[in-house]
Amino acid sequence: MFGLLACAPELEAEPAMTEAEALDPVTCAACHPDQYDQWQGSMHAYSSYDPVFIALNAAGQRATDGALGTFCIDCHAPMASKLGLSGDGLDLDTLPASMRGISCTYCHTVDGVGDLYNNGLGHADDLVQRGGFSDPVPTAAHASAYSPLHDRAELVSSDLCGSCHDVVVPSGMQLERSWVEWNSTQYATATSGLQQTCGNCHMDGYEGRAAISDGAPLRRVHDHSFPAVDTALIEFPGREEQAEMIQDRLDPTVLSELLVCASENGVEMRLRLENVAAGHSWPSGAAQHRRGWVEIAAYQGETLLFEAGNTAEGEAVLANETDDLWWFGDRIFDGDGIETHAAWDAVSYESKLLPGLDQDGDNHVTRTWYLGEQVPTRAEAIVHMRALDVDFLQWLVDQGDLDPSYLSAVPTWDLAASEAMWSDIIGRCPE
Ligand code: HEC
Ligand code: HEC
Ligand code: HEC
Ligand code: HEC
Ligand code: HEC
Repeated sequence: MFGLLACAPELEAEPAMTEAEALDPVTCAACHPDQYDQWQGSMHAYSSYDPVFIALNAAGQRATDGALGTFCIDCHAPMASKLGLSGDGLDLDTLPASMRGISCTYCHTVDGVGDLYNNGLGHADDLVQRGGFSDPVPTAAHASAYSPLHDRAELVSSDLCGSCHDVVVPSGMQLERSWVEWNSTQYATATSGLQQTCGNCHMDGYEGRAAISDGAPLRRVHDHSFPAVDTALIEFPGREEQAEMIQDRLDPTVLSELLVCASENGVEMRLRLENVAAGHSWPSGAAQHRRGWVEIAAYQGETLLFEAGNTAEGEAVLANETDDLWWFGDRIFDGDGIETHAAWDAVSYESKLLPGLDQDGDNHVTRTWYLGEQVPTRAEAIVHMRALDVDFLQWLVDQGDLDPSYLSAVPTWDLAASEAMWSDIIGRCPE
């Protein structure tokens, strides 16, 4: 009560946002500075500034004679697409900044989900800001309302994310599948006792103020930085912070166990990898661009007996693909069965992914390398990840769509919990 009374004069002084103001995240920053600061460094703010996005969209529009239309910007610059400000996304740099990202009001006025792919989100045109609070403190700036689609405690909140995170290309092939993958795990099953929505894992809760105005109380608020694997490849707010958060998230994602042992097949090196943190496959989403891989080596004293996955910076992971290389990601193929980077031509894919926790409790894969008569004294392994690999970027450069300076811009991440060491006397392999 006290809060409301104290704020009453302020309420009258504060005019309600106009539609133009509501479309601009900068307006929200006045009262929601934390959400704004976190968001402005996120991939949601970056999505149509991404030079790789711009290059791939340009290549796609050219290759399809414009038939791609708003397909890409429907998700990457969704407000511009919704308001009809761009037909193909080739003119994004002529639009105001407020139209280029996945903006505050774009997410917060969602009032329904149709298709669970290719952005089937429905929006109310009432400028009511929907969120997870059932008791929002009133503000004159905007009306507020509770929405289960925006409440990470509700399974249905994953549909809001999934509708954009699952991509079906024109041939009908499901290119990106984070929601579909999540939906088959125990995290999507209310009765499993392990329920976790996209928001549970990707929007950390912490104690803070949802707004710095109108006497807003301390309560649980949610981080809007959305770090995962992509970093801005251009000057962008919060780039270093994003990189640190990405490392923190990737580090515990994959757990490993390395064993060297003897069987009737000779000496075996067995590596077990477990997806302990991702609520879907790993990698997920744009797995056609992602490249996770194992670097593994065995030594006798100081002598190298065996190695695989020792990829140099600037070299594509699949450039020297051998049978010994263990990698994770998707490959996509066109109608002639030829591998392509052109998602608009893709009709089929091949996946090598670590599975999410399925209904039988499986979330791991084991791989064996055979060393024959060689007897190591020491072995080590680690998993690396690149969000985008050099072969894909080179393909964009070769077509003149991407500046060659980006070829060396994508970092290689090491996943700390995947680091495994073995040094022991070789025993019999367990069954
Ligand atoms: C990708 C969608 C998305 C975008 C973009 C987004 N939000 Fe949110 N926001 C959410 C969701 C989902 C929640 C609710 C989480 C919950 O309560 O479980 C939320 C919660 C909030 C809340 C309530 C307090 C809190 O932190 O939980 C505020 C205020 C808010 N957002 C403001 C903003 C502002 C301002 C921006 C832009 C700078 C923004 N949001 C961008 C999805 C989004
Ligand atoms: C004049 C200050 C002010 C401005 C400007 C403002 N808000 Fe708010 N907003 C508030 C207050 C106060 C609350 C209530 C906070 C609470 O209850 O803890 C709130 C709550 C919210 C919520 C949570 C609603 C719920 O029920 O969970 C969302 C989402 C939100 N605002 C989004 C936005 C967005 C997006 C913008 C910019 C388009 C914006 N706000 C601009 C003051 C403001
Ligand atoms: C309007 C469509 C849209 C909605 C809704 C949306 N996203 Fe996104 N999201 C994107 C796009 C597009 C990107 C990729 C941007 C880029 O990397 O250029 C992205 C990026 C991300 C990333 C970073 C991925 C990476 O590889 O670094 C995370 C994490 C994420 N979203 C989680 C969520 C969650 C959780 C929700 C629901 C609360 C959500 N998104 C809702 C479109 C959306
Ligand atoms: C149980 C926790 C959990 C749940 C639930 C979850 N995620 Fe994730 N997600 C992770 C972890 C951990 C990673 C890997 C760490 C990283 O990439 O930084 C990840 C990675 C991602 C990425 C990066 C893509 C990649 O290469 O792996 C996207 C995009 C994403 N999640 C979206 C979603 C969406 C959309 C949902 C809901 C449908 C969801 N996540 C549900 C934990 C979760
Ligand atoms: C249904 C929504 C949707 C559509 C349609 C879509 N994307 Fe995306 N895109 C996403 C999401 C979500 C991610 C992030 C997934 C992840 O992090 O794994 C993403 C990631 C990307 C990335 C990787 C970001 C990076 O730099 O690592 C590029 C590039 C990209 N999209 C380009 C395009 C192009 C070009 C098109 C049109 C041919 C397109 N997208 C169509 C949602 C979409």
